[in-house]
Amino acid sequence: MDLDQLTALRTPEGSAALAAAAEVAGGDPLAAAAALRSAGIPGGLAAAALTQAELRRRAAGKFGAAAAGMFLTRAGLEQATRRVVADRRAARLRAAGVTSLADLGCGLGADALAAARAGIRVYGVEADPVTAAMAAANAEAAGLAELVTIECGDATAFDVRRVDGVFCDPARRRAGTGRRVFDPNAYSPPWDFVTGLAARVPHTVVKVAPGLDHALIPAGAEAEWVSVDGDLVEAALWCGPLAGTPRRATVLRCKEGPPVNASGREGPPSHHLTGTGTAEAAVGAVRRFLFDPDPAVVRAHLVAELAADLGATLADPTIAYLYADAAHATPFARCLEITDVLPFSLKRLRALLRERRVGRVEIRKRGSALEPEKLRRDLRLTGDEPASLVLTRVAGAPTVLICRPVPTAG
Ligand SMILES: C[S@@+](CC[C@H](N)C(=O)[O-])C[C@H]1O[C@@H](n2cnc3c(N)ncnc32)[C@H](O)[C@@H]1O
Repeated sequence: MDLDQLTALRTPEGSAALAAAAEVAGGDPLAAAAALRSAGIPGGLAAAALTQAELRRRAAGKFGAAAAGMFLTRAGLEQATRRVVADRRAARLRAAGVTSLADLGCGLGADALAAARAGIRVYGVEADPVTAAMAAANAEAAGLAELVTIECGDATAFDVRRVDGVFCDPARRRAGTGRRVFDPNAYSPPWDFVTGLAARVPHTVVKVAPGLDHALIPAGAEAEWVSVDGDLVEAALWCGPLAGTPRRATVLRCKEGPPVNASGREGPPSHHLTGTGTAEAAVGAVRRFLFDPDPAVVRAHLVAELAADLGATLADPTIAYLYADAAHATPFARCLEITDVLPFSLKRLRALLRERRVGRVEIRKRGSALEPEKLRRDLRLTGDEPASLVLTRVAGAPTVLICRPVPTAG
């Protein structure tokens, strides 16, 4: 997509092409192109509209109904913050007193729009001209143009004295190839610029990869890991007065709660576990109930805090499964009841599951090199009872736990 194509899509003819493309997107691409051709839509416009319609369909998972009016690039969508996470961040910034925010490397504007929905005046800076134009169009489509100004340029040149808060979500993909970069020194804007922002504007938040090495967390910052419905989606560094605790795991349950409303203030339930990130959980024996912590808890190094809440212990100091004598309902872990503990042996496991007429298995693993899908095939189960298998190590030994779910817990 280039700027001319974007301009064409924003004309009345472009809107008609987008509406026609939305009707046929998601089906056979050749049939979709033929449908637009037979509606008299010129080839170039039809192709651009079909690409947008396809991206909008994919974006619905991140942005909900608003996706249908957004302009998107593939790379921009992949890197964009999902709405539920952006809205929570924006609400926290607003509650901390931020009234004007620089979004340095704003991409398609998902975070900028969330800040504007929370009532914050936003200045977005984006290096890529098409992405910047799309961010501006997205602000307009959302009715937020008065609160959002998008500049196309280098974020490192933005005068941060104009704002009382900064958000930076550096690109973690190599321009051109789109390949992920794991070394923060290869982020754009560069890591030393990003980590230097808090010295210039104390209310600074930086979005980072969830795999960030804890050693890179700036002193005094709060590092937060966020999961949505069990998937780890991002980490953020809250600097200066925004830091509330050294480490935080935020668990959002979108499937359980109401959708985010138009103001962005309501939304699904969020649960927070906080701590130092340095405590260690006690190690003991396998007990009756197993807790599989949410990935945000594991990445935030808050397993010891969760263990203390649950009265639980590890069975191996290097593996983040917790064991307790009682089941508990917790948003921070899935709880399973252990029925059998076996040293790993395919033959023995197969015999036991067959004897119990087990045919459907959910397989979880930590600390095991076994491939769940290969194990499932090798088990050749034929019964119709369900079971959960947990592949792990106990005191260093490869072990399989046969479990059943605890309906009211986790
Ligand atoms: C991870 S994306 C931002 C996504 C955005 N937070 C959202 O949710 O839509 C990072 C963006 O920063 C832009 N970028 C990278 N280096 C930049 C720089 N020096 N100045 C301005 N923008 C930059 C990239 O083009 C990319 O669009």
